[in-house]
Amino acid sequence: MSSTIRAAVLTVSDTASVDATADRSGPTLKAILDAQAGFRCSETGIVPDDFDRIQETVKQWCDRGDIDLIITTGGTGFGLRDVTPEAVKGLLEREAPGLVHLILSTSLKHTPLAALSRPVAGTIRNTLIVTFPGSVKAVKENIDSLLYGGLLEHATEYLT
Ligand code: MTE
Repeated sequence: MSSTIRAAVLTVSDTASVDATADRSGPTLKAILDAQAGFRCSETGIVPDDFDRIQETVKQWCDRGDIDLIITTGGTGFGLRDVTPEAVKGLLEREAPGLVHLILSTSLKHTPLAALSRPVAGTIRNTLIVTFPGSVKAVKENIDSLLYGGLLEHATEYLT
């Protein structure tokens, strides 16, 4: 019997980092994880589009050892300040290209603009990390693809 997934959501956005009320994607994702997926999203945060700040938070959360899943939202595009994939990739011990493939292939069924996101996924010790785009629409579509078939439960079970 699998235990409840302990999740954390990190919003990466210059705008939301100065005005948390501008963050709609983080709360949307937390609500889906808690209510729809039955996970326990105990940690949320907002950082600007800043390589070091993103890495700092992800590292801190992974070091705790009590977070199974980190999902970031925002900063995955082609904008010059979009550095979430680079920051997260620099920390990954093992990449998970299958999850990236799944996210992109299902997202492309919704919109060709999905090709403008540069997601990365992988593990740091016992934590799985996935990067989502920043819009509420994209967050909903991305989490839908990962919740299918008990995929995340299965993945995190392997990491315990
Ligand atoms: N993926 C899905 N599933 N749905 C979307 O609407 N929007 C795209 C893309 N991925 C989108 C999506 C758009 S318009 C952009 S610019 C990129 O994600 C990058 O978004 P980000 O810079 O907010 O991370």
